[in-house]
Amino acid sequence: MNQDTKHPTTVYLGARDIARIVRRKGLGACIADVARRIERDFLRWNDFDKSARVACHSEAGVIELMPIADARDYAFKYVNGHPRNTLDGLPTVMAFGVLADVATGVPRLLSELTILTAIRTAAMSALAARKLARAQSRSMAIIGNGAQSEFQAIAFRDLVGIRELRLFDVDTAATAKLAANLVGQGLKVTVCTSTADAVRGADIVTTLTADKQLATIITPAMIEPGMHLNAVGGDCPGKTEIDRGVLEGAAVFVEYEPQSRIEGEIQQMAADFEVTEFWRVLAGERPGRTSAAQVTVFDSVGFALEDFSALHFARDAAAELDIGSIIELVPRSADPKNLFGALGIEAPAGAAREVPAPAGANLAHFG
Ligand SMILES: NC(=O)c1ccc[n+]([C@@H]2O[C@H](COP(=O)([O-])OP(=O)(O)OC[C@H]3O[C@@H](n4cnc5c(N)ncnc54)[C@H](O)[C@@H]3O)[C@@H](O)[C@H]2O)c1
Repeated sequence: MNQDTKHPTTVYLGARDIARIVRRKGLGACIADVARRIERDFLRWNDFDKSARVACHSEAGVIELMPIADARDYAFKYVNGHPRNTLDGLPTVMAFGVLADVATGVPRLLSELTILTAIRTAAMSALAARKLARAQSRSMAIIGNGAQSEFQAIAFRDLVGIRELRLFDVDTAATAKLAANLVGQGLKVTVCTSTADAVRGADIVTTLTADKQLATIITPAMIEPGMHLNAVGGDCPGKTEIDRGVLEGAAVFVEYEPQSRIEGEIQQMAADFEVTEFWRVLAGERPGRTSAAQVTVFDSVGFALEDFSALHFARDAAAELDIGSIIELVPRSADPKNLFGALGIEAPAGAAREVPAPAGANLAHFG
């Protein structure tokens, strides 16, 4: 699958292509690869032209565009969040994205990003937990057992060393699905009867709920010294999961502060509430966890740089495994100024094919 260098062609990776890549490489290996790329890209934070995502809100949900670029590549993701979609048989989150050349603007990759979002979100969460959770963390509660949950479970197993999961969802069928999908994955799974029951004794608490409201799923009474909270589901104005009392007593880490102030758990807090951008911890500029008893929160909302890393993973994996197809997203034309010619419209029969020179063009001959 070689791209034509003369004409602007684009690699297309659909959902089946990404699923094939995951089957060929293994989900754990894909998450680990994306985590390595996110770490590498976060360590060159200042190379990127960053902005908070552009959101279009409705009563039912949100549709967002997430752009980012370095000197070579431009990326964007289209993503939605519609918590009631599953009632109609649709996913809560759906996404696709593009990688383009900054030098020319040629779109080089058009890819599904629904599966890749689950992979990159899990990779990002595990990367954060590796720095922020206690080193000996072995048990994790997962509150919200929908589309993202298996990806988080595998990421925390492989990258953090989690061996026991305590599951809770208001929808018992979702929990049964997650438990069934994790059979044979080397994880001890306990189905719990409430959030408080699941959280009790857990080293790490991952919240993955979808509900368009200021929810307080995790309250101060549930918090034990040393817990790490991986708060993933609160990612939109008016959509949170953690009681503000929990945040007041914790060290809070975010991806990109200007976006997290609008969308994260910290939307509940004053504008000067102290948070640390996670890239500074990776770079060694700021401490992560400072004591075994400290409560840490990764206030995840999902940042465009994670999708930039995931799109590069997809591009490279597709080239390595020869998966995907070439599409002509940009019209093909021998003369780039002749876009009309790319329409393939035949000249009417008998019409003069010779083009008269513009008036004045031949003045030199008469001069
Ligand atoms: N931060 C990020 O980067 C990021 C990335 C992807 C998704 N998300 C968010 O993560 C959340 C989960 O996404 P998903 O794709 O798994 O959605 P999903 O709809 O597939 O699953 C959400 C689950 O949460 C459960 N739930 C709702 N309210 C609950 C409550 N009070 N207690 C327990 N369970 C509850 C639902 O029953 C459902 O099973 C969404 O809010 C989504 O917007 C964030």
